[in-house]
Amino acid sequence: MNATQAVTATEIVLPGVVEPAGLQIRDRELPAPGPGQVLVRVEVSGVSFAEQQMRRGKYYDQPAFPFVPGYDLVGRVERVGSGVDPRRLGTRVAAVTKIGGWATAAIVDAGDLVPVPDGVDPAEAETVVVNGVTAWQMLHRIARVRSGGTILVLGANGGVGSTLTQLARHAGIRVVGTASPRHHDAVRALGAEPIDYRDPQLYRRARDLSPDGYDAVFDHVGGAGILESWRLVRRGGALVSYGSAATRDVAGNSRLPILGLFARLLWWNLAPNGRRAHFYNLWAGRRRRAAFQAKLRDDLTTVFALLADGSLTAQVAARIPLRDAAAAMRLAESGTVAGKIVLTA
Ligand SMILES: NC(=O)c1ccc[n+]([C@@H]2O[C@H](COP(=O)([O-])OP(=O)(O)OC[C@H]3O[C@@H](n4cnc5c(N)ncnc54)[C@H](OP(=O)(O)O)[C@@H]3O)[C@@H](O)[C@H]2O)c1
Repeated sequence: MNATQAVTATEIVLPGVVEPAGLQIRDRELPAPGPGQVLVRVEVSGVSFAEQQMRRGKYYDQPAFPFVPGYDLVGRVERVGSGVDPRRLGTRVAAVTKIGGWATAAIVDAGDLVPVPDGVDPAEAETVVVNGVTAWQMLHRIARVRSGGTILVLGANGGVGSTLTQLARHAGIRVVGTASPRHHDAVRALGAEPIDYRDPQLYRRARDLSPDGYDAVFDHVGGAGILESWRLVRRGGALVSYGSAATRDVAGNSRLPILGLFARLLWWNLAPNGRRAHFYNLWAGRRRRAAFQAKLRDDLTTVFALLADGSLTAQVAARIPLRDAAAAMRLAESGTVAGKIVLTA
């Protein structure tokens, strides 16, 4: 393509608080990439839990409507702005974008790009972009669980949960994972011991499987159950809270449930009980942009290497064309999928 020719992207737009059917499709001429930016021809994007919150106006850092959703993407560099090494042209890259990934092309800061190893399928790579960074950082940077430890992963069949489970198993850590019974075989196949998260005896069963408690509990559900998660943490262990799925449909200010959660975690962390309580936020520290980007690049590069050498198996729940993003959202919200739904441009 002629480098001066305009690039038109097909984008999925979230116009306001709508049902999945209310997503719109538009064509938009993209500006040329500015200094330090690239234009990526998107091959695959993904459906994350964040979009379920965003379409309800319930995401903690809710973008203003209308916007193009899409938390991460994989594609090829098609144009580079000034200051970007032209050798990047044509290379396959991944990026965590928070929004904007549900498009056939996107402008991305070159510092946000992470090379995808040769030979890795782009849809498979896509399953571990935001999920891989989140899971890796929670396990190895926050909880710092050692080989031989035991962890509890809530939602072990989900995008983050299935990646976290595999990373932990790879590191020699025993995993107990909650999931609906329909996903128990899938969770077992990842090397974890499944328990039903709707079972009224859930926490007793979790305790029975590890009577001395857990070295870490990873909780994206929040709500009243966070106290039970905390009680399951053994001395010297850590609670890593990273979401509030339980309050997705609660009316009112989207920040209040998270702020209440922060206060609780802070209190537990300060109390002299020999345990740690954290809220993990992927975007923490992003104001120190270069350091933030370097850390993300390091961690995702490590995860990609594990995918490339077969230590991690991509959990592709479904491959759906970008134009059918509404169907992809409905499927994501159906509670029937194991792994990550990817959107192919
Ligand atoms: N803090 C951060 O920086 C950060 C970064 C990335 C993701 N996250 C959070 O990570 C979570 C997972 O994201 P994802 O994209 O992996 O989502 P996903 O693929 O949709 O998976 C969600 C998982 O949670 C389970 N689940 C849903 N509601 C539940 C409930 N009330 N109790 C127990 N389990 C429940 C689902 O089980 P079923 O399939 O059986 O319904 C599924 O296993 C989200 O809450 C997201 O906000 C946080």
